[in-house]
Amino acid sequence: MPKKQIIHEQWSSRLAFVLAATGSAVGLGNIWKFPYITGENGGGAFVLVYLMCICLIGIPIMMAEIMLGRRGQQSPVGAMRTLALESGVSSHWAVLGAVGIVAGILIMSFYSVIAGWAVSYMLEAALGHFNGLTGETAGAKLGGLLGDPLQLTFWHTIFSAMTAFVVARGVRSGLEKAVQILMPLLFVLLLIMLGYAISTGYFMQGLQFLFAVDFAKLTPEAILTALGHAFFTLSLGMGAIMVYGSYMPKGASIAKTTFIIAILDTLVALMAGMAIFPLVFANGLEAGAGPGLVFVTLPIAFGEMFGGALFGTLFFLLLVFAAWTSAISLIEPATAWLSENRGMKRSTAAYAVTFVCWALGLVTVMSFSSWSFSFHFAGAEKTDGMFDVLDILTSTFMLPLGGLAIAIFTGWVMKQVYVRDEIRLGQGVFAVWYQVIRWVAPLLLLYLFIHSLGFA
Ligand code: PHE
Repeated sequence: MPKKQIIHEQWSSRLAFVLAATGSAVGLGNIWKFPYITGENGGGAFVLVYLMCICLIGIPIMMAEIMLGRRGQQSPVGAMRTLALESGVSSHWAVLGAVGIVAGILIMSFYSVIAGWAVSYMLEAALGHFNGLTGETAGAKLGGLLGDPLQLTFWHTIFSAMTAFVVARGVRSGLEKAVQILMPLLFVLLLIMLGYAISTGYFMQGLQFLFAVDFAKLTPEAILTALGHAFFTLSLGMGAIMVYGSYMPKGASIAKTTFIIAILDTLVALMAGMAIFPLVFANGLEAGAGPGLVFVTLPIAFGEMFGGALFGTLFFLLLVFAAWTSAISLIEPATAWLSENRGMKRSTAAYAVTFVCWALGLVTVMSFSSWSFSFHFAGAEKTDGMFDVLDILTSTFMLPLGGLAIAIFTGWVMKQVYVRDEIRLGQGVFAVWYQVIRWVAPLLLLYLFIHSLGFA
């Protein structure tokens, strides 16, 4: 196929791509969001729906999104335009890339604020401030941080600056090596926390909550949240994985790498859940406590356990790191677009995009103190104001709808020969995946949407 001049770099190897994409997938979504939304939505049945969404919708769409990126070889906007023209359809498909860019910016605006909590907690742990925390004092500690917009803005600014710094330098400098060491370390630390959770004597109760399926607890809101989270946690539906795919070497297998990423991502989320819920029950806390769940439970554990200051510091350091590698991918589509399609210098583009996200982030900062309000969504009451609005708008609507468009483009619009040429699967496996992308994933997605929003 005629290719535009390739202006962007490539990952140095298949391993580098797997690491970078895993770095994008594993983040606050796994350790902060998954446990708290599981708690809010009653556990078991929610987890089951989430796992089903990962397998039947997330994995096939992830393969499609990587495939589009690697064939398009440009920022999502340029890639979609090129691919649409290649298959002889309207170049308006580029809009898909543009919507993704907006979604990334909106997500980054609150992502960076939450990551700021983790930066602040890293310091608190190092200073030994978790010693002797109880459910009540741990809650008060987080409350103190959330009620202080200046402090929140300070940490949010630090995290934004960290992200801009890496993105300005391009995908390869430094990032690859850091992920290689820090991701395995995060895994080890989660294992230590798991060990601690077992020692509380409430491990079985935690497992029960996570895995005992009770469909009576499954609300329409829970189903949509689970679907949205499958996209959020795999970084799907907004061009992040597409743009990373465009840096992927031609020889690497899309299916294999997708499976590795999805398995690692799911494992980290389940481990975080298994480490956190026993602590919730051991300390008489509320499973549905909301976004603060991890920041209240884990500090109590660190305050109690042997070597807690060290483990606590290390844990929040790794959480910050995991958030960092995700944040980078959130603003990469916008940055790639400005620098490749709008002729801006890469570093200028990265700083400009980060500034927009930072400024928007102030809305989330305020929503935790003075601007909170409640509203209704799919029959449930929501109370964190703009933070919840941004979260629902992006995770529940923009990402799944972006994913739907990716599935439709791949399965129905793009010429099958091109799809086959790029995805390189054996006959039988290709046929199965192709039917899933054409029928199963889009129909299931639509069904969950229509059903949960109460239209049917
Ligand atoms: N997957 C990331 C996480 O779980 C968040 C993310 C969403 C990153 C969308 C990029 C794109 O934290």
